[in-house]
Amino acid sequence: RDPNVVRIVEVGPRDGLQNEKGVVPAEVKVELINRLGRAGMRIIEAGSFVSPKWVPQMAGTAEVITRMEKLPGVHYPVLVPNMKGLENLLELLSATTAHSVGSLTSTIPPTDEIAIFTAATDAFSLANTNCTVAESLTRLAAVTQKAREKGLRVRGYVSVVITCPYSGKVDYRRVRDVSRELLEMGCYEVSLGDTTGVGNPASVGAMLDVVAGALPVERLAGHFHDTYGMGVANALTALEAGIRTLDSSVGGLGGCPYSPGATGNVATEDILYSIQDSKYRTEKSVDLEAIADIGWWISEKLNRQNASRVGRALRAR
Ligand code: HMG
Ligand code: MG
Repeated sequence: RDPNVVRIVEVGPRDGLQNEKGVVPAEVKVELINRLGRAGMRIIEAGSFVSPKWVPQMAGTAEVITRMEKLPGVHYPVLVPNMKGLENLLELLSATTAHSVGSLTSTIPPTDEIAIFTAATDAFSLANTNCTVAESLTRLAAVTQKAREKGLRVRGYVSVVITCPYSGKVDYRRVRDVSRELLEMGCYEVSLGDTTGVGNPASVGAMLDVVAGALPVERLAGHFHDTYGMGVANALTALEAGIRTLDSSVGGLGGCPYSPGATGNVATEDILYSIQDSKYRTEKSVDLEAIADIGWWISEKLNRQNASRVGRALRAR
């Protein structure tokens, strides 16, 4: 495989929309996912099977993944926090498969992948999932095992890899150890989340020295929130450290409801622009102009400012 191919995981429909004040209608979510797929995104995080009491914005995920366009070769992971979330997803998957029996067209299942999530600190884990890191790892090992038995791919997230909004500076060795556990339990990849967006190239580089120094770098991804405007710089730092998978969100949508003050992910447009004319290229050619148009479309739909600097610059031309 070409060592300079960069995979981009579009997290806007999940990380982006989970933090909106109002609940975004299912048809808008479906259209967002469809547009992203048509523009060339290969991995689109489509929603979450979390508790609707905790994150009401994701309550419609079952409807969204049933209705969205399933393009061949595109993965549509959904977040799953516990066994209950996995069971709800499996029920949906078996219902859609049963529905297709007898029909001549073969139905592509809504998804073949889940994303599980934990954190590098107990304080964040408790705020986000009501359990310590150790408890979450026990819970997630069972979820991962069952998901894989059912043929699903499992991606892992570690939150607060740089600083924690509740307990401050994070020990990068903890990030390394939690990431290792996720890989050992069967995650094909672990995404390192700078949830607060406080990191800069120095701290992200130092964190990666510890984590990528000990674990296979091809199984790590970077997930940078852009609170301090460091998202692109941090993403390029991750590429320099050998990481080839970056999470981003169209229009810079997003934030985590349990990370107060943090803004959205680094914008997909900004990542694409930052690697233009460099040695790096995306897996399949992604249409930057189309992505920027989607950033404008969804920002207007949500009545929010477009957080992508590249999106704004392209429109101002
Ligand atoms: P809990 O309250 O401890 O759960 O929450 P519980 O097991 O005691 O259940 C309480 C109620 O929720 C019960 O309902 C359950 O049935 C229900 P009741 O009997 O009261 O009617 N319930 C569920 N319903 C639907 N789906 C489920 C589910 N589980 C329980 N899966 C729990 C524990 C983990 C469920 C909760 O804390 C939760 O859902 N947390 C998710 C929070 C979240 O989604 N955060 C954002 C995503 S993570 C993120 O953004 C970071 C990331 O982007 C990386 C980064 O930037 O760092 C990934
Ligand atoms: Mg996030």
